[in-house]
Amino acid sequence: MDRIVVQGGTKLSGVIPIAGAKNACLTLMPATLLSEEPLTLTNAPRLSDIRTMSELLSSLGAEVSSLNDGKVIAMSSHNADNHMAHYDIVRKMRASNLVLGPLLARHGQAEVSLPGGCAIGARPMDLHIHALEAMGAEIELRDGYLHAIARGGLKGAIHELRFASVGATENVVMAATLAKGTTVLKNAAREPEIVDLVKCLRAMGAQISGEGTSTIEIQGVDRLHGATHPVVTDRIELGTYMLAPAITGGEVELLGGRRDLVASFCDKLEEAGISVEDTPNGLKVKRANGVVKAVDVVTEPFPGFPTDLQAQVMALMCTAEGTSVLEEKIFENRFMHAPELTRMGAQIDVHGGTATVTGVERLRGAPVMATDLRASVSLILAGLAAEGETVVSRVYHLDRGYERVEDKLGACGAKIERIREDG
Ligand code: EPZ
Repeated sequence: MDRIVVQGGTKLSGVIPIAGAKNACLTLMPATLLSEEPLTLTNAPRLSDIRTMSELLSSLGAEVSSLNDGKVIAMSSHNADNHMAHYDIVRKMRASNLVLGPLLARHGQAEVSLPGGCAIGARPMDLHIHALEAMGAEIELRDGYLHAIARGGLKGAIHELRFASVGATENVVMAATLAKGTTVLKNAAREPEIVDLVKCLRAMGAQISGEGTSTIEIQGVDRLHGATHPVVTDRIELGTYMLAPAITGGEVELLGGRRDLVASFCDKLEEAGISVEDTPNGLKVKRANGVVKAVDVVTEPFPGFPTDLQAQVMALMCTAEGTSVLEEKIFENRFMHAPELTRMGAQIDVHGGTATVTGVERLRGAPVMATDLRASVSLILAGLAAEGETVVSRVYHLDRGYERVEDKLGACGAKIERIREDG
């Protein structure tokens, strides 16, 4: 398993290009199942999660080609006649559950393995199930698989989600495009990745309105045609790399960065004394007067502060002036980075869903272990600011969501290298 070694203490400056969004691409790819015609995605990120989704779609009979060094994904589901998503693939990635809605819409049936829990929580699917049942699906959990059938096809329905679940919203929107009649989804998630999905589905001929608001309306149509769609910028990669100049000092321009994708995050950075400037090519971030002030954070569904940036901003708060209270309200166990940061000298007190961070003068480099995707990059950020050497192990977590992190940070002066290890 590879490790990443960081020598801390260098102020970063330079330019970092931001890739297409992992979490948009993971819901755009299953949309190929909704049409017999080709769907091509451009500006796709080069990540292991994308390769896992390609493997899953291929197992369902879709043809998936990665072109242009992985930045283009060309798919055709003309012969996709398998409706069973096997445990061996699904267990690798929770987002595999996003084939459930498209399979039901295409075949009127689906067998999808439950993804199982992951490091950050149990990750149940009750919201997906209740919504699809409201559309006429009969869904039974048996032998670790969801067995779903929609006799006579899915029907439009009016349904309110108990919680604004991103994945449940995506499954329902995709399923409803081919349902008989109109679906109104209330308390829908408002994330930019859902807006991007709707843009793509509309390009395929879907009749959808309200994306980005809490109520999305979908008129079912008989069929969808093919399309070519550019994947939206990754707001979580963007926010992550905005923290690199913030935690080390210096100045970095994030190419492709858009303030509207990270508005609440930018507000928090500016409250902490970090300057965020809009430029013709993206966003420029620098530490204004050298001091980072402690700020409080509560994670919420979009447009609130993103849970996927909580671990990263905790790293910044470890070196801030004052005490910061971070409340994680989306997942039940998303502070695994805290004990690892503590090994680097951070002062963090975790009680349930609340972490209280008291900033310290300097973190000290140490051997640490990545436990999940966003925790792993939080350790890298801490290592950039720490005195001495930090070795992050199990970086396969990192590679799920960040392409070539050592190249992107290294190009801004970071002393960072990957030690490739077999096994
Ligand atoms: C998406 O996961 C993202 N993944 C996550 O990013 C992100 O953290 C999350 O949305 C919240 O923004 C992808 O888009 C592939 P949810 P998802 O359904 O759809 C509970 C990353 O780091 N819940 O909004 O699974 C659930 O347990 C990943 O890139 C139910 O209780 O998130 C969680 O506590 C991590 N029942 C909360 O809702 C359900 O049926 C939010 O889940 C579904 C969810």
